[in-house]
Amino acid sequence: MLMPRKKFIAGNWKMNTTIDEAVELAKGVVAAVGDCTDVDIAVCPPYTNLVAVGEAIKGSNIKLGAQDVHWVEKGAFTGKVSCAMLKAVSVEYVIIGHSEQRTYFGETNETVNKKTKAALGAGLKPIVCVGETLDERNDGKMETIVEAQVRGAFEGIERDGALTCTIAYEPVWAIGTGVNATPEQANEAHAFIRRILAEIYDDDFAQSMRIQYGGSMKPGNAKDLLGQSDVDGGLIGGAALKADDFAGIVKPA
Ligand code: PGA
Repeated sequence: MLMPRKKFIAGNWKMNTTIDEAVELAKGVVAAVGDCTDVDIAVCPPYTNLVAVGEAIKGSNIKLGAQDVHWVEKGAFTGKVSCAMLKAVSVEYVIIGHSEQRTYFGETNETVNKKTKAALGAGLKPIVCVGETLDERNDGKMETIVEAQVRGAFEGIERDGALTCTIAYEPVWAIGTGVNATPEQANEAHAFIRRILAEIYDDDFAQSMRIQYGGSMKPGNAKDLLGQSDVDGGLIGGAALKADDFAGIVKPA
């Protein structure tokens, strides 16, 4: 018997919040949804705020996540942060392969794979982001792009490790634009990703893995998106920066 997939809502704060702002936001999230056990919840603040936010969410059901990680253990990699460094400040989840990393900082399917392997090796739980651009969708390439991203991310990763990952389907054209994918578009893409996962691993695996939707999810559209059979949660950017909006997404979940 397969376990039903528990919904998972994660806030991606991106490059927002100084330490004071982060602590205030974290406290607001704790007050709004900190005792919720029906949904898994995480917040992913910038590196400089991880320790302070970790303190602010202590004792609640909110988990701590980071926004990126480097795959090498240590050494001369100026500006980078390792898995062990994240573990040492009680980080549980790590976003890997976000489209902003892919677009602005040279992230490729290969680096996503290296980061995912390193994170799993260190006991972190990756949130692996995939998604097509508007041009790719209009050219009918959504499936080709997303398939390559999913296969690339999980290349050489054994089943048990892969099962601790979450996939976030984030169509690039929906991120920060206010134009979300329709619930049907999201569900279709998620179902497609599940078919790929079934090919890479097996059907049980595909049915067990959680797939979040990301891209302009907000209180007003969360219920419809989260109501889709293959949508298991959300990766929330803009709406995660206000505790009430974030809570307005956790509640329908
Ligand atoms: P958005 O961002 O909710 O602001 O569209 C989502 C994301 O980039 O993870």
